[in-house]
Amino acid sequence: LPIAVLISGSGSNLQSIIDKIESGALQAEIKVVISNNPKAYGLERAKKHGLKRTVIEHTKFSSREDFEKRLVSEIEDAGAKVVILAGFMRILSPYFVRSFAQRILNIHPAILPSFPGLHGQKQAAQYGVKVSGCTVHFVDEKMDHGPIIIQAVVPALPEDDGNTLGERILKWEHRIYPQAISWLAEKRIEICGRKVKVKNAQP
Ligand code: GRF
Repeated sequence: LPIAVLISGSGSNLQSIIDKIESGALQAEIKVVISNNPKAYGLERAKKHGLKRTVIEHTKFSSREDFEKRLVSEIEDAGAKVVILAGFMRILSPYFVRSFAQRILNIHPAILPSFPGLHGQKQAAQYGVKVSGCTVHFVDEKMDHGPIIIQAVVPALPEDDGNTLGERILKWEHRIYPQAISWLAEKRIEICGRKVKVKNAQP
């Protein structure tokens, strides 16, 4: 499966995908890693593994549309068929979403539909929930909203803050994101309205 991975920061999810590909557990090929942030540490990770890297700085475009047109052409030119958002901190417009309909995945650090938006880990810790986790979903035109592929749950403790809860969640992000991509690569995913069916998945 030819994929493009879009990042803005540390890129630990990118790393988990690279590791699964290199170990042979994930039948995908990273055609390009794109960052809107030239200082993203994930770009170093990509370099270390010999991956094509492109920086597309949103600040250098006069409109969201121009920025996204550049993103779309970069992804298409690289030959990627699926877009993996891995800590990419820009909201994508309907234009971008329609360009890769049902071919964009996102990971969110909370159990959607709870705590969408920024800092889902901190929101959950402050709310005082007893469990939280992470969600891999298809991207649609609303933020943190599309059909859910997989979720993982972790305990949330009274003494947690966004950082301690976030670390516990991140470990599971690194397990479920490669898993979801692998299902997609194996063509085991079917979208039926809001529901995602995965063939032969263990409940
Ligand atoms: C993760 O918590 C992810 O859920 C969120 O942004 C963070 C990215 O972390 N969307 P990393 O850059 O993959 O380390």
